[in-house]
Amino acid sequence: MLKLSNVTKRFGALIAVNDLSLEVEKGKIYGIAGPNGAGKSTIYNLISGFYNYEGKIEFNGKSISNLHPYQIVKRGISRTFQIPQTFPSLSVEDSIDIGNRFGNTRRYRRKKVDEIINFVGLHNERKHKTGTLDLLGKKKLMIGAALATGPKLFMLDEPMAGSNAHEIKDLMKLIQKINIELGITIIIIEHFMKVLTELTETLLIIETGSEICCGNPSEVTSNPEVIECYLGTDHD
Ligand SMILES: Nc1ncnc2c1ncn2[C@@H]1O[C@H](COP(=O)(O)OP(=O)(O)O)[C@@H](O)[C@H]1O
Ligand SMILES: [Mg+2]
Repeated sequence: MLKLSNVTKRFGALIAVNDLSLEVEKGKIYGIAGPNGAGKSTIYNLISGFYNYEGKIEFNGKSISNLHPYQIVKRGISRTFQIPQTFPSLSVEDSIDIGNRFGNTRRYRRKKVDEIINFVGLHNERKHKTGTLDLLGKKKLMIGAALATGPKLFMLDEPMAGSNAHEIKDLMKLIQKINIELGITIIIIEHFMKVLTELTETLLIIETGSEICCGNPSEVTSNPEVIECYLGTDHD
């Protein structure tokens, strides 16, 4: 469904993504992990059309390189951000409606906002200003607004950051529901290995913009190079 071929992104002298290739299969959950500064969020920024880059990115067999972010959303790719971004003075339902209008100008459906509010579990807060939501609420809102654009591929950037064990369980269930019930292909960047091994079928580990290894989570997490670079030598 999504294919990156020899993608490189330079910020001046810094190579944030270095000759990276990857392929995400339709219907799957694909995980990305690596130390801070490895280039994970930059990969999303390239796929989303925020920056120019070297190499090629294709979605459903067609190039999406050089498209603007709004065009990429219309092709069916949406994403969340590491730090929840909301419009604090808008209500939950109006915020989700922005995604709905943005993605579906031709087949706009107000009913879809209700479906999404229920799906992410914000029905009790629908009239609340988004600025009053707690962190979990903001995360659900950001996920809902992104889902309202009608994605085929949904990319989450460290969705568990700052969450407690109970909230992590809640978000994992939501991510699985998006994949299974809505049939949406998912990429997830995450630090918690347990989350990745439980959710994903393929896991890519990167360091300083380059692939360290890629495969099924149990193979990847037992790879000595991954243990050394990412999990640390004192990981048992
Ligand atoms: N817009 C930018 N301008 C300059 N450097 C950037 C920019 N975005 C990211 N970087 C740098 O690229 C590297 C990778 O960053 P990032 O993709 O955010 O890492 P990660 O998400 O894996 O923690 C870091 O060294 C970061 O400082
Ligand atoms: Mg990041």
